[in-house]
Amino acid sequence: MKADDMIRFELDGREIDAAPGESILQAARRAGTDIPHLCYTDGLRADGNCRACVVEIDGERVLAPSCCRAPKPGMKVKAESERARASQRMVLELLRADVPAEAEKADSELAHWCDELGVKESRFAPREQPAADRSHPGIAVNLAACIQCTRCLRACREEQVNDVIGLARRGADTAIVFDFNDPMGTSSCVGCGECVQACPTGALLPAALVTAAPEPAVVLGAFAEPITAPAPVAE
Ligand code: FES
Repeated sequence: MKADDMIRFELDGREIDAAPGESILQAARRAGTDIPHLCYTDGLRADGNCRACVVEIDGERVLAPSCCRAPKPGMKVKAESERARASQRMVLELLRADVPAEAEKADSELAHWCDELGVKESRFAPREQPAADRSHPGIAVNLAACIQCTRCLRACREEQVNDVIGLARRGADTAIVFDFNDPMGTSSCVGCGECVQACPTGALLPAALVTAAPEPAVVLGAFAEPITAPAPVAE
């Protein structure tokens, strides 16, 4: 990479260089400064859905997700300003509201960023939580800890080209499902573990690490009712 190709911009008062195609977040991380992020992880396409990584950009009214935003030469970015931090904290607090303490993995990325930004507990009421699914021999599913960041979905679909994991329903009812809302153990999952590696909260864990028997032992995926497959179209 030639030095001329690099894009120099300012992050919290420090000049850093981004390689062509890098996002603000990627350039910041390469320069040794991390910005809170949850739905972004190295190696997966950025999706920009969690908003934990928002930053202030001089001259722009709306905060920008740094994982999806390309820097421009001379751009002035603030990831640690009062406004950016307040927004990052609010996002973490909202996400944490959906993850009961007993469901959260202690060393999860969500826990890490909450600790970093001083988000201790959430003031918001949690949503109704789905029961755990222990139907798979290798992967324990606890969607109570899911923040719908879709990293598992992208790992399954885009990295492994398995396409077992999807998002069903809309708005506040959105949930991760396996095939047509099957228990993971009877879905077409091949147990590769990419989704477990990608999960930032512990909603998907190696079954061997989860010793407590869930109650009930096996449930449908995220919803009480299975999603019916569409009828085949008559030729
Ligand atoms: Fe950027 Fe989630 S990490 S929006």
